[in-house]
Amino acid sequence: MNLPAATPAISPDWDKIRADFPLLERQVNGKPLVYFDSANTGQKPASVIEAVDGFYRRHNANVSRAVHTLGSEATEAYEESRRKLARFLNVGADELVLCSGTTFAINLVAYSWALPKLEAGDTILVSRMEHHANIVPWQLVAQRTGATIKVAEIREDGTLDLDALYRAMTPDVKLLAVAHVSNVLGTVNPVREICREARRRGIVSVVDGSQAAPHRKVDVQSIGCDFYAITGHKMCGPTGTGALWAKKEHLQAMPPFIGGGEMIKEVSFDGTVFNDPPHKFEAGTPNIAGFIGLGAAVDYLETLGMAHVEARETELLAHLTEELDKVEGLRIFGHAPEKAAVVSFLVEGAHAHDLATLLDLEGVAVRSGQHCAHPLLQFYGVAATLRASLAFYNTHEEIERFAAALQKARKLLA
Ligand code: ALA
Repeated sequence: MNLPAATPAISPDWDKIRADFPLLERQVNGKPLVYFDSANTGQKPASVIEAVDGFYRRHNANVSRAVHTLGSEATEAYEESRRKLARFLNVGADELVLCSGTTFAINLVAYSWALPKLEAGDTILVSRMEHHANIVPWQLVAQRTGATIKVAEIREDGTLDLDALYRAMTPDVKLLAVAHVSNVLGTVNPVREICREARRRGIVSVVDGSQAAPHRKVDVQSIGCDFYAITGHKMCGPTGTGALWAKKEHLQAMPPFIGGGEMIKEVSFDGTVFNDPPHKFEAGTPNIAGFIGLGAAVDYLETLGMAHVEARETELLAHLTEELDKVEGLRIFGHAPEKAAVVSFLVEGAHAHDLATLLDLEGVAVRSGQHCAHPLLQFYGVAATLRASLAFYNTHEEIERFAAALQKARKLLA
């Protein structure tokens, strides 16, 4: 296994880093863009855009099929991206299934692991703060197997009620699905401890890492889960890329989810011999250029150092929270002690979508709505929130411009 890259000793010059992102230079509605929607999708550095462009200009060919030079180059570059991503997560490359993102990754666990295994009387334990990709696949499995879904509740401050969670881990629970970081509240869940408790009770754990991997060092081995899902486009990579890490024993035992080319060793009308994992789960032509871009994204993040990324975002979050606390009638959802740079909020008397529209007129991009997490918003009894989600490429000056735009919008709607 490749060793994870060491964090560079010196923190990057964040003003220079920002210039790596061409899109952040643009204007929106005649104002300089303030992009605060990175939990939805992250912006891309020039090195990622160039890697995708360079692949199509110089190397484009299908992977794992042709012996010609371009085919070998494409295959080598694609597999190199798998190795980079594996090193980034501290896992073995042969345990990493490349796929379109977290949604596909979790569905793969649902259809290949859970569907054949679960039956009536079994329970799937899901936390209240999951986004739909970590709820709906389990509901589909439950419908087809007769298993039931149990919800692990949160506290008002947006933290998981761990005592209740462990009490809920009864012998009928076969699988636990939990987010590493909430996309709405920013809560960082103690997944290492949670997975240890699950393991002690023989419960298989699925961790949704889509909001964690872009923002902090993730060492999947030390978390001790059974499955870990990530999304490439939230971590500076192209859309349509992501991965599922799974323990080897699961990958070997699980039947393929989708059949076709690439995932086979031999096919006859009498039957098919499947390829070894992870290829067994990668039928068809993958998003080759996208994964070349994701490899470049991993290089980029490793050059910054994830510890520096996390420190930078923690500092931006503190500033953002301080500015929001000054706004009259503003309520923040989620006050976990350990929190990523995601802030959901509402302003009394102003609808979230109206505020988001007014902010957009000032060049500020925030998400409004239910953030693909209806059950979580039901818990708080609200129909929508605004959400500002930051990344290391944001600046303190942007936070001030956002705060001024929010004050202006609030006055207009008051
Ligand atoms: N992409 C979704 C978000 O905005 C899940 O958090």
